[in-house]
Amino acid sequence: MAAMFMVEPSPAAADPIPLKTLAAAARAGDGIMFGSAIQSALIDPDSDGDETYEQRAAAEFSLIAPENDLIWEVTEPTEPTREGGEWVHNYAWNRAEEVVDFADRNGQTIIGHHLVWHSSVPSWWPRMPGPDGKPIPNPEAYTPQVVREFLQDRVEDTVNRFEGRIGYWSVVNEVFAENGSWRPSIWQRAYPNPVPDSYGYIADSFRWAHAADANAKLYINEYGVEGNTAKARALYDLVKRLRNDNVPIHGVGFQTHRKLTDGLTGFADMLRRFADLGVEVYITEMDVRIHDTATSGVELLQQAEVYGRAVRACLDVAACKFINLWGFTDAHSWIGTVFHIGWGRATVLTNTLAAKPAYNRIAAELAGWTAPVQNMAGWWRLDDWVAPDDAAMVASDVSGHGRPAAVAGFALGNEGRMPGYTAFRGNGVSTQATTTGPVLQTPQSFTVSAWVSLTDTTRDQVVVSQDAATSAAFSIGFNVASQKWYFSMADTYAQGPGFYQVFSTVTPQPGAWTHVTGVWNRAWGRLVLYVNGKLNAAVAPPASFLPKASTGSLRIGAALNGRHLAGSISDVRAYQRVLSDAEILDATSLGYFGLNGQTGDTSFFLRDGSSRPEVIRWLGTPDQMPNALRLTAGPNDSTRIEAVAVDIRPQVLRTDRSYSVSAWVNLEATGDMVAVAQDGIHRSAFRLGVRAGKWSFAIPSADADVVTMQVVNGPTAVAGWTHLVGVYDAEARQIRLYVNNVAQTPAANVTSWASANTLHLGQALDAPRWVGGIDDVRIYQTPLTLNEISLIPARS
Ligand code: XIL
Repeated sequence: MAAMFMVEPSPAAADPIPLKTLAAAARAGDGIMFGSAIQSALIDPDSDGDETYEQRAAAEFSLIAPENDLIWEVTEPTEPTREGGEWVHNYAWNRAEEVVDFADRNGQTIIGHHLVWHSSVPSWWPRMPGPDGKPIPNPEAYTPQVVREFLQDRVEDTVNRFEGRIGYWSVVNEVFAENGSWRPSIWQRAYPNPVPDSYGYIADSFRWAHAADANAKLYINEYGVEGNTAKARALYDLVKRLRNDNVPIHGVGFQTHRKLTDGLTGFADMLRRFADLGVEVYITEMDVRIHDTATSGVELLQQAEVYGRAVRACLDVAACKFINLWGFTDAHSWIGTVFHIGWGRATVLTNTLAAKPAYNRIAAELAGWTAPVQNMAGWWRLDDWVAPDDAAMVASDVSGHGRPAAVAGFALGNEGRMPGYTAFRGNGVSTQATTTGPVLQTPQSFTVSAWVSLTDTTRDQVVVSQDAATSAAFSIGFNVASQKWYFSMADTYAQGPGFYQVFSTVTPQPGAWTHVTGVWNRAWGRLVLYVNGKLNAAVAPPASFLPKASTGSLRIGAALNGRHLAGSISDVRAYQRVLSDAEILDATSLGYFGLNGQTGDTSFFLRDGSSRPEVIRWLGTPDQMPNALRLTAGPNDSTRIEAVAVDIRPQVLRTDRSYSVSAWVNLEATGDMVAVAQDGIHRSAFRLGVRAGKWSFAIPSADADVVTMQVVNGPTAVAGWTHLVGVYDAEARQIRLYVNNVAQTPAANVTSWASANTLHLGQALDAPRWVGGIDDVRIYQTPLTLNEISLIPARS
């Protein structure tokens, strides 16, 4: 039992339990391996090595990665020669052998980094000037045939050499560029298809490695894929394709080289998404960079937070089998010497092997982990990136219950509810996504919500339903006769129509993304319908009403009666309980920046903010957990152009549609200042902050140099935490401002325009930066009213 281990928070604790022991016992005994990269030079039995380093590496870890000792340029320092039609290789295995022997002596599993990596091409391979003038390996130095032979020999000979001794191989590393395109390499050209293509060499490398050691687990390794990035989506598509082609790939390695301000939000979801493809997932090279100067104080705590989140994410996902650190002491981290000069204190132990807060935090997470509370019954995001030509497509259930929905006739290409996102697209005839069994017990209280956009309002349609024997037990959809949203439930004994339903008072607009929620509140005997997070209508069936039990599938975009949706759906959530009004409102938020020591977004869209300069300050002393963003000006910076700000990319809001922005702010200077803004090209599309000494929400009339400012002013801006909400209501053509839940006089006949650039905290294109505190920023693509604003939780 994990709970047996009590971990002392003090770094000076005597004989702490090693991480490998805590890790093995974690997850109620279904534990993980915990490891580190080590360097052969430091464990060299023939030279002095470093005894304390060796002892610690042996005692602390169940897993070891040779940091650089297995890469191609190290194992094959001289060009192969040709004899009798065969390549003769002059391998140098001594360094790798040292590490493998060390791990064998200590009963440690080994992960081999990496068989194929663009950055370890041996120096004998001829170079040419790259795009930036720096030398890169010349892909045309050898014929495609020879390139393939070299690659095959490298993979086969290396895996063969260590057959049975190296348990896991990083087969290919970093095959993508940041935007998700193939990274150019010497191997691409050897596989033209019809243009240089990486798929062939990747698939072949896995096949060759598997042929050389059928028992080794083979993974693909990548950085910058812990969040929802273009590269992560490309990697997902690749792994899916490899699996579909029966290529022997068993895992996906997330390098997890991060920095102190990374939220690592959504990491567990990302691990789960990959795990749903049937592979294991691993954290393979973790470090968290902070400044060299950070020997005490808040950066150490922020670092601990990032490590802690990663450990929890791995433990939360059953398919996550190990965490490997990229070095375990600041004395030998690659960060400060190679990757980010000045940011070298990236590991969990000091130069003298003393535990940093990060180490204690990892130990505490391993010892204290409990299964996440599962208060959802199912969650299908459907804003996915999955290739449209994939017949066996499945919408994974990210609630943790493992109730995937098989998609029939899925089509992409629709505008998702946020820029850059797709959605489930219903064709009105045959499309749907169905689970294999029931998700909800319909007689019990439940809540179901979805975002939906209709393209056709001339027929009855279903957004989500769950089957009873002969009809849906419940369904949410669009009713053509009334032109309203409906939520209906079938009655077990009813005569007549056999169901009860509630209609919305609002009329859906074709093409407008709308959040619809149906709640069956059994205790109160009510069917309740919410639209855009707001309670819209309710009915109370007679006391004789007994909801039909449901034993069949949950269907997205369809019902048993054959009605399908013509339009788009995303973010379908099911709960076996009644959600509060505040919870339903929260589900409509498209961005939440809690700013508790992190700039991460914990909403669905997981946009992590980055700050300029890299370090920002947080309120609270270093000993407390920081709980707000604090933006400061430079020392001699009267214009505040040096003040710190946070950038959130990509675009967060559609400013040509209704939206609301909520933020807590605290002033530490006078004059105009902006707390939240989203940029167009010449202007920010809105700014929430202080204008002419007053709280203010302002929208310029156009994205141009000469504009009129459309403004709602509030009371005089003063210091002290203040809650501001700016609202643009496209239908009413109004802008509104709420200051501490008090509505100010709105501005009428307002135009707002589309903006596609960064959302900022503390900055706008056309106004001075913020000086003071900003906290709990929430973004909604709906026009909130006072009722909903009063449901926004207090500052955390
Ligand atoms: C790094 C090593 O730690 C350094 O010593 C070396 O100079 C460069 O490579 N991603 C990877 C690792 O996959 O192999 C890299 O290791 C770090 C980034």
